[in-house]
Amino acid sequence: MARVTLEPTGEQFSVGEDEDILTAALHNGINLQYGCRHGNCSSCKHWLLDGDVDDSAGSVYAIPRNEREDGAILLCCAFAKSDLVIEIHQHEGVEALPPMTPPSTRRATVLGQRSMTPNLVELRVELDEPLSFRAGQYAEFTLDTGDRRSYSLVNPPSSGRELTFCVKRVQNGVFSGVLDRIGPGSHLHLEAPFGTMFLRETGRPVIAVGIGSGIAPLLSILTDAADQQVDVPIRFYYGARTTGDLVYLDELAELTRRLRDFQFIPCLSQGSPDTLPRNGRAGRVTRAVAEDIPDASLYDAYLCGAPEMCDAVGRLLEAKGLPEARIHADKFYSATESDPVQVSEHRPNWARR
Ligand SMILES: Cc1cc2nc3c(=O)[nH]c(=O)nc-3n(C[C@H](O)[C@H](O)[C@H](O)COP(=O)(O)OP(=O)(O)OC[C@H]3O[C@@H](n4cnc5c(N)ncnc54)[C@H](O)[C@@H]3O)c2cc1C
Ligand code: FES
Repeated sequence: MARVTLEPTGEQFSVGEDEDILTAALHNGINLQYGCRHGNCSSCKHWLLDGDVDDSAGSVYAIPRNEREDGAILLCCAFAKSDLVIEIHQHEGVEALPPMTPPSTRRATVLGQRSMTPNLVELRVELDEPLSFRAGQYAEFTLDTGDRRSYSLVNPPSSGRELTFCVKRVQNGVFSGVLDRIGPGSHLHLEAPFGTMFLRETGRPVIAVGIGSGIAPLLSILTDAADQQVDVPIRFYYGARTTGDLVYLDELAELTRRLRDFQFIPCLSQGSPDTLPRNGRAGRVTRAVAEDIPDASLYDAYLCGAPEMCDAVGRLLEAKGLPEARIHADKFYSATESDPVQVSEHRPNWARR
């Protein structure tokens, strides 16, 4: 066991040799900014002031060489080799996180699954014990092979025992293969809740943008917003290829009735003007956001799904005046991601002050 001290807060916790520092901090109820937990997004980058870590599990591309030499480490990929002192970098303009439930493990029994599109499957499970989480957070499944895969919860926190996931099937995917083998009554193991995607209570209007399975955390957030009678204007841009690839349309229609000022804008990259649904737009979400939002400075933004989309929309909104600290992105990195261009391209712009 090693002792970790965080500066400047002075918080302390112990970490075992097989546990990464981020997970140990979360298990100890310490709230930190992070994202993927697989060394891809760089959100958990902080500075080692004293001690030794093994961080060879992280992508060498996730931290620029000069920052690495300066002591930058990714907490999700760093293992303590001695007692440590770590400087927690408070990102400029980012509000402190509210209390979050520490993650814990659950046994899940599969209730069923259904194909929603050729690529998207809805998986429903029942937990042995209810889970407390914030709308927008995710669970991590641990498979028999030891592989871990993250999936955002679609349901709101009011349903803490029955969980719903929206899973994209990918060719030769480990979890996609699991979907072929499981059925009602099968057991899965998961740990939750994880992630810092949740609706900030700022009173500012919201732009939510998701594509494909990226609808999962956003639907949880929107449903919870309706349950909590959140009263801010919300625009939800949802990208898919064709009308047949849009999912959860009944739930979104219901939200249009329940939320006072909610606009659902489906964006179809292969849509033609005569096949567009109501409020639908031809083209990608980036185009619709670019056309609709002349000044983004008043909004908070929530971007979910493919990292490339999150980065493109994030850059667009920043160019339209939205500070980076108010752009909350849940990038669905693959756990196997290691492409240097992809990883470095998506690195957030957190420099040490
Ligand atoms: C915080 C977080 C939340 C996430 N939430 C969701 C969610 O709600 N729904 C969801 O479907 N996914 C989500 N993901 C992604 C998910 O964790 C898996 O990475 C993804 O489903 C692929 O897993 P797999 O085991 O099927 O494929 P893997 O075994 O991981 O990959 C097999 C091959 O497919 C490639 N690949 C992986 N993902 C994709 C992709 N999207 N498109 C094309 N090729 C790909 C890999 O590079 C690899 O070559 C999330 C990821 C993160 C980090
Ligand atoms: S949370 Fe550590 S790199 Fe994404």
